[in-house]
Amino acid sequence: MIKTQNLTKDYGDLTAVSNLNLTVEHGDIFGFIGPNGAGKTTTMRILVTLLEPTHGTAFIDGLDVRKHGKKVRRLVGYMPDFMGVYDDLKVFEYLEFFAAAFGIDRMKRKAIVEGVLELTDLQSKQAATVDSLSRGMQQRLGLARVLIHDPKVLILDEPASGLDPRARIEIRELLRELKRMGKTIMISSHILSELEQICDHVGIIEHGQMVFSGTLDEIRPRLGIQSKVRLQVAADQEKAVELLSSLPQIREAKIVDNYISVTFHDGEKTDGLIARTLVKANLDLVFLQPEQLKLDDAFLQLTKGIVH
Ligand SMILES: Nc1ncnc2c1ncn2[C@@H]1O[C@H](COP(=O)(O)OP(=O)(O)O)[C@@H](O)[C@H]1O
Ligand SMILES: [Mg+2]
Repeated sequence: MIKTQNLTKDYGDLTAVSNLNLTVEHGDIFGFIGPNGAGKTTTMRILVTLLEPTHGTAFIDGLDVRKHGKKVRRLVGYMPDFMGVYDDLKVFEYLEFFAAAFGIDRMKRKAIVEGVLELTDLQSKQAATVDSLSRGMQQRLGLARVLIHDPKVLILDEPASGLDPRARIEIRELLRELKRMGKTIMISSHILSELEQICDHVGIIEHGQMVFSGTLDEIRPRLGIQSKVRLQVAADQEKAVELLSSLPQIREAKIVDNYISVTFHDGEKTDGLIARTLVKANLDLVFLQPEQLKLDDAFLQLTKGIVH
């Protein structure tokens, strides 16, 4: 649904995006992740035809953005990283304005505006001024705005940035709902964990180049990040640590506070092995749980240039 082909953008001497190839399948939520200045906004602005590439091109639903700007603009909803200021415009006026700008018939506008207000849970705010909304509500309004012309593809530039955790969850729920409606969504962030729970695929960009692209499950071995579990035995933690440390699949077992932290060698995560080993030694397992990979740690590793 979204595809870039050797996409390159120079600003004078600076190459902001360099031979970038990415593909987003229909119906996917694609997380476009990279530190500030990596080239995310530049890429997105090319995808929505606001910028011309220097070399290469991009396609939306098979349409070349360089050749079919008008058609592409009908297909995409773009939410920029900065929304602009609309002074004392009321929420419904704001949305009606964009409906008019999209050439939506006056008779149909009201129903469409009501529809997007409902979807973004902003009905109760329709008479409020845009500036009086919280940041979270403003972001939802931004989403309402890009939904007005019912685009197939949503390109959202850092929609969760600066939101408190609750507002972030609300945006996440809304994005899931949009995915259920069949939209293809590309969403950027400089914080990997912000997108961790909603993305089907991620692409990590640094200095205008894609350093990783794939599923979150693929990122772990690729980064050489070890799987970890934590567990507790009823008695004799030292014996358990000794036993587990001797297994070839386990890199390290150690006592942390009152539980045991186990790190596996890459690709060797087998919880069953731990349980079997302990049972054989008559050690009662009290609990065993995986330790979540800290994606931001992974991201830091990537942007330190470990994977290139
Ligand atoms: N209009 C511009 N003119 C010159 N340089 C720009 C312009 N827009 C962005 N840049 C530079 O291009 C690089 C990529 O920027 P950007 O696409 O905004 O990255 P991101 O959105 O990932 O933070 C940065 O080094 C930025 O300073
Ligand atoms: Mg940006």
